[in-house]
Amino acid sequence: MTKHKIAVIAGDGIGQEVIPEGLRAVDAAAKKFGIEIEYTHFDWAHCGYYAEHGKMMPDDWFDQLKGFEAIFFGAVGWPATVPDHVSLRGSLLKFRRDFDLYVNLRPVRLMPGVPCPLAGRKPGDIDFYVVRENTEGEYSSIGGRMYEGTDREIVIQESVFTRHGVDRILKFAYDLAQSRPKKHLTSATKSNGIAITMPYWDERVEAMGKQYGDVKTDKYHIDILTAHFVLNPQRFDVVVAPNLFGDILSDLGPACAGTIGIAPSANLNPDRKLPSLFEPVHGSAPDIAGKNIANPVATIWSGAMMLDFLGNGNPKYKQAHDAILAAIEKVLVEGPKTPDLGGSGDTTSVGKAIAAAI
Ligand code: NAD
Ligand code: IPM
Ligand code: MN
Repeated sequence: MTKHKIAVIAGDGIGQEVIPEGLRAVDAAAKKFGIEIEYTHFDWAHCGYYAEHGKMMPDDWFDQLKGFEAIFFGAVGWPATVPDHVSLRGSLLKFRRDFDLYVNLRPVRLMPGVPCPLAGRKPGDIDFYVVRENTEGEYSSIGGRMYEGTDREIVIQESVFTRHGVDRILKFAYDLAQSRPKKHLTSATKSNGIAITMPYWDERVEAMGKQYGDVKTDKYHIDILTAHFVLNPQRFDVVVAPNLFGDILSDLGPACAGTIGIAPSANLNPDRKLPSLFEPVHGSAPDIAGKNIANPVATIWSGAMMLDFLGNGNPKYKQAHDAILAAIEKVLVEGPKTPDLGGSGDTTSVGKAIAAAI
């Protein structure tokens, strides 16, 4: 039997608290379905490492990680000691870029037992995916700062959209939409105001859409799209967006569905030549770190997505994924629940309850 090799990086803040619960759930499901996993833990890509070494990761980080099938990742960032752009560009964003994790797949679902901040919504009403372009767009390193400190100071950062980069994320999103009952794709741009890159994205959507005659395509400008997320979330099925808009929509969506504490993500290199990365959507949450009250569900769900990915179509792994989701649903209904869901449970007790339910 294949033994899957997984790299584990817990990172900063609540990353250290939620990753053990993610592993507990993945282990329970792996045991139940006869899946073998070998973990290797890495104690870098966190701000404590930066304090000691002046960098977030060892110089050979790529070689250390490239042979793993997947990376199970907590969160990075401790802005009190290291500026966020330094810690994130020195770790997570490097993984996304250098491992070519061009898909950031982020499910948004109103789960049973989770109070919805939008009136009159029930589970099933909100059930869509944000498919975020994850390697280019606004997150480019091209630009610079001139005449620093003078009143002529100029700061420029370019957005980069390549045909290869746009087409491959659109293809992924259209394939996903085609596989779902609603067969509906929504594309987010701002082509009325950002008049070069965004109309280009729209143009590629039109070209790609022609190859998916059975998928209905809607295009929205990002401003009104955020309003529809709040007012008409039932409208969405697969929402594809450039990097920055996808980032924003993937916090807004889960907030509309109750809490970002349950929102998972898969950073995928669908070619599987380099490791894909699975992590909660949320960050290191310094405001609640060290208290054992972070919701572990986002990380546990990300672990379920990782198992599904490892299976690459093998039904046993899909069953393991589904068993974790069923256990999450059970515990969201019956408790214990963390304070973001109005409960008084803690990270460990929620994690243990989910593992037991698996
Ligand atoms: P955040 O997601 O860390 O926290 C936002 C708010 O949501 C906080 O009030 C926090 O307590 C709450 N929250 C987040 N996760 C929760 C959970 N699992 N359970 C309960 N409540 C939860 O976002 P932020 O405050 O903007 O960022 C904090 C740090 O994390 C920064 O350094 C930021 O750059 C970093 N960050 C990292 C990632 C990542 O590693 N993927 C993602 C987002 C932010
Ligand atoms: C996310 C985060 C990251 C992003 C930050 C921490 C760089 O917000 O994964 O959503 O912007 O992609
Ligand atoms: Mn984000």
